[in-house]
Amino acid sequence: MRPTIKKIAVITSGGDAPGMNAALRAVARSCAYYKIECIGFYRGYQGMIEGDYTELTARSVKNIIGKGGTILKSARSDEFRTKEGRKKAYDNLKKINVDGLILIGGDGTFAGGVTFGKEYKIPFIGIPGTIDNDIAGTNFTIGYDTALNTVVESIDKIRDTASSHNRLFFIEVMGRDAGFIALNAGVGAGAEEILLPEEDLGLDRLLESLQKSKQRGKSSSIVVVSEGDKIGKNVFELAEYVNENLPEYEVRVSVLGHMQRGGSPSCFDRVLASRMGVKAVESLLEGKADVMVGLVKDKIITSSIEEAIKSSHSINKELLRISDILSV
Ligand code: F6P
Repeated sequence: MRPTIKKIAVITSGGDAPGMNAALRAVARSCAYYKIECIGFYRGYQGMIEGDYTELTARSVKNIIGKGGTILKSARSDEFRTKEGRKKAYDNLKKINVDGLILIGGDGTFAGGVTFGKEYKIPFIGIPGTIDNDIAGTNFTIGYDTALNTVVESIDKIRDTASSHNRLFFIEVMGRDAGFIALNAGVGAGAEEILLPEEDLGLDRLLESLQKSKQRGKSSSIVVVSEGDKIGKNVFELAEYVNENLPEYEVRVSVLGHMQRGGSPSCFDRVLASRMGVKAVESLLEGKADVMVGLVKDKIITSSIEEAIKSSHSINKELLRISDILSV
């Protein structure tokens, strides 16, 4: 039998991503439309444990669709990893009669939801929100498109100065375990080389490619490096290695860091978040549980969240080939 959903709680958890607010707005407004109550816990699972929440009404989410960050704040809760922490969270949900949960975040957030869902009978729906785009079950996560645009804009600026001074830049972008940002922003910004967590292209190949660039008359070069690249050297170590082996290059390093997670969401992310937020609420009302919403072939679908965190969303290796051809 379908559970009757009268009250939904939503959280934003893990690394924040532009578009999380647009998703919160969509969840709150869908609840208002279907005449159910909506509350938001602050700081992800930690707010559930502490009973720290606010009511989300259609009006309380006004003018947030274009705001970066998350009005509910975000955190990675160590306490929620413990049985006692999860029990506290469940007791708080029951105390205020929450019938269903919407979890906006990445794989860590989803893994927490799966554990919680096995221990306590409370249906939840996941909305993928992370700049890393590393969630199976969706072609795009909320925040990824905005982050890509931020990175491309930054690399364009670095290219200006690299070109004026005939320099080689190593640019570190986010992606501890996933190279989506590095690969797509690298191709979008015309980088000479792209180093990823998924592929070890080797240091010899890097030197060879940079040597060729010089011989072909390139005045500046950009190497985009994922923070978790597989060669196993960080961006400063890579720069030093090239400095020692190719003295003809003047090398500089730029770490883009957390600016990649901020800023007003792109139109793509706002629309994606709006569609996913509505679908999440409607899925709970239809009696679905423990699934995530995702964008696949331009349709918003639901799929098993447990499967999504077990499998990986793989990078498009064809883009590496394209990057090689175009950096000739
Ligand atoms: O949200 C994912 C991510 O952006 C990763 O790419 C990065 O490694 C990580 O967050 C850093 O997050 P924090 O500084 O919040 O721990």
